[in-house]
Amino acid sequence: MANIENDIERVLISEKDIKKAVKKMGKMISKDYADKNLMLVAVLKGSVIFMADLMRAISIPINIDFMSVSSYGGGTKTTGVVKIIKDLDHDLSGKDILIVEDILDSGMTLSYLKNLLEHRNVSSIRIATLLDKPERRIADVKADYFCFTVPDEFVVGYGLDFDQQYRHLPYIGVLKPEIYEK
Ligand code: IMP
Ligand code: MG
Repeated sequence: MANIENDIERVLISEKDIKKAVKKMGKMISKDYADKNLMLVAVLKGSVIFMADLMRAISIPINIDFMSVSSYGGGTKTTGVVKIIKDLDHDLSGKDILIVEDILDSGMTLSYLKNLLEHRNVSSIRIATLLDKPERRIADVKADYFCFTVPDEFVVGYGLDFDQQYRHLPYIGVLKPEIYEK
C-alpha cells in the first residue's frame, strides 16, 4: 500500500507546533481586529487547511471568501503577473481584508494580489501566512502575521503541494530528493 510518509525525508514542523502557532495567531488577529470589519481571503488551494484552522481560532465575527490564481506563462520562473482563475464573490467595500496564504516565497503572487485588491475600496489590507521564506524574497512585500520562518528548502504538507500531491500530510515536511529527480 502506498504511503505518502515514505516520501518524506524529515519533519520540519510538527502537527503539534502548527496547532499551537495557529491558535496564537488567531488570538492575535481577534484582538487586532476587534473593532474592524474583518474578511479573510484565502488563496486556493495551498491555504485551505491553514484557513480552516485559523478561522476556528478567531473569536470575533468574520466573513470569508476564496480566490484562485495562477502565475501567467509557462515554465518555472514566476513572472509576477497573476491570472485570476476564480475571483471573490463578495464586495470588498469598507472591509478590512486579511489575505490568508500558505507560504510567502518570492512574494510575486502576494504583491500582485495585494495591489489588485487594494483598488476595490477596502478599508485596510494585510497578509497572514503560515510560512515565510525570506531568503527567496524578490518583491517588496512582507507578512503582517506569520507562524514560522522556513529555510530555502522545498516543503510540503498542511496544504502545500509538490505536483499537487502531499497537501493532506498533517505536518510540514521536506521531501526526499529522489522524488524531485523522478
Ligand atoms: P511566490 O509568488 O513566489 O511568493 O509564490 C508563492 C507560491 O508558491 C505559494 O503560494 C506556493 O503555492 C508556492 N510555493 C513556494 N514555495 C513553496 C514550497 O516550499 N513548497 C510548496 N509550494 C511552494
Ligand atoms: Mg499557493
